[in-house]
Amino acid sequence: MIFDTHAHYDDDAFQEDREELLAGLNAAGVGTVVNIGASIASTKTTLELAERYPFIYAAVGVHPSDTAELDETQMEWLEEMCACPKTVAVGEIGLDYHWDEPEREVQKHWFREQIRLARRVGLPVVVHSRDAAKDTMDIIKEEKAADVGGVIHCFSYGVEVAREYLNMGFYLGIGGVLTFKNAKKLREVVAYMPMDRLLLETDCPYMAPTPHRGERNSSLYLPLVVKAVSEIKGIPEEEVAAVTEANARRMYRLA
Ligand code: NI
Repeated sequence: MIFDTHAHYDDDAFQEDREELLAGLNAAGVGTVVNIGASIASTKTTLELAERYPFIYAAVGVHPSDTAELDETQMEWLEEMCACPKTVAVGEIGLDYHWDEPEREVQKHWFREQIRLARRVGLPVVVHSRDAAKDTMDIIKEEKAADVGGVIHCFSYGVEVAREYLNMGFYLGIGGVLTFKNAKKLREVVAYMPMDRLLLETDCPYMAPTPHRGERNSSLYLPLVVKAVSEIKGIPEEEVAAVTEANARRMYRLA
């Protein structure tokens, strides 16, 4: 079954119909979801969802754009949350120079600190990196993030950068962008990368695939991404779903 490795079902965009939507996922072929924390508040709501739904797991962490809220006390709380039974990763953490706030030194500091946290607790990292290819790579190497491994989510760089992450053992998160007309660079990455490192993700409510681009995204649209991968790789859609599910279980260390 399809494994959605990166979702934000605690987002307000699902306020009206969250329960109904989540209840229908299984019948639509989506077997597992990892909901991703992006702030202290959304880490709390992520853990609540994971507690409530057997097929939802949690990543705990603070997105680069929200790192201004972090301090030692919040970091201690995050570390405690890593021990929750449904927590499978630290994320999403990283660098975002597209929005470029808070200042880069602040983003870098808390990216390092959250990688150190992941290493202390032995969980993989979910990395968000936008317009920050070099600094992300440097910090990942300096902090030895490869020791715990993880995923570069919504991968947006080219084949050269992909090769370097793959050589370090990382997975690449592939979502709706792959179906966009102007996604030539990402299609090249998918053609290049081995199937056993590819993870499917929605990043919902964002990044809906074509022909739903701009609408609210959900795991129900993942078959469109499966189809795009299957066309690029020349393998059946069922195989794409099965292999990426096995990849996700391996990376998140779920039996
Ligand atoms: Ni996300």
